[in-house]
Amino acid sequence: MITPHMNSKISDFSEVVIISGDPLRIKYIAKNFLKNSIKINNVRLMLGYTGFYKNKKVSLMSHGMGIPSLSIYIRELFFNYNVKKIIRLGTCGKISKNIKMRDIVVAIGASTDSSMNRLRFKNYDFSSTATFNMLKNTYNIAKKYNFKIHIGNIFSTDSFYGKSDSFYNLIKNFGILAIDMETSGLYSLSSELNFQTVSICTVSDCIFSKKSISFKDRENTLNDSIILALELSIK
Ligand code: HPA
Repeated sequence: MITPHMNSKISDFSEVVIISGDPLRIKYIAKNFLKNSIKINNVRLMLGYTGFYKNKKVSLMSHGMGIPSLSIYIRELFFNYNVKKIIRLGTCGKISKNIKMRDIVVAIGASTDSSMNRLRFKNYDFSSTATFNMLKNTYNIAKKYNFKIHIGNIFSTDSFYGKSDSFYNLIKNFGILAIDMETSGLYSLSSELNFQTVSICTVSDCIFSKKSISFKDRENTLNDSIILALELSIK
């Protein structure tokens, strides 16, 4: 055991890791997109894999739901496995009416109702932003592949359920594109620890109409964003 949550060897990990909340999505990417992939973590079934994409070593790691769970894995990847670049491949609920189900939202920055950034930043408001170079490369790759992306501010909530329509209207009026549960915490950690990051989320839910893509589709119809993250990982 290297950390309380991971049983991978240090050499198992590439310096570049694609992370996702859902372990089955990680397994799906490893099986369908990487060559010679091996499982490198199974503690708590939070699956991790390493393999090759276009002959370059890439690792994949799951992180569960929400900023507290994500933060455990990010800190361990950074401090125990020397990871330097972390690409989040997630899902989000759309707020903006200009966005469609299955479109891709790339976060420049992330607002939040989580207290994690305040804990880290001595109770001041921290502006959580992506690494510019990663954002620029994501944009260029998406244009090259003709992927449908939207770039802007998203909101990372601690509370998947129980928010009111007046809250959703408020953030819509502030130009928030979509909601997830992790990006703000990932971005503040990248600033605190100094690794590169960007968060790429496929729209799986519509907040106002309450429509969702199915459980099965969540796992395996995110192929555009998977290719986007993999191409970014080898830049
Ligand atoms: N809300 C918050 N996080 C999410 C959602 C949502 O509707 N969909 C995917 N992640």
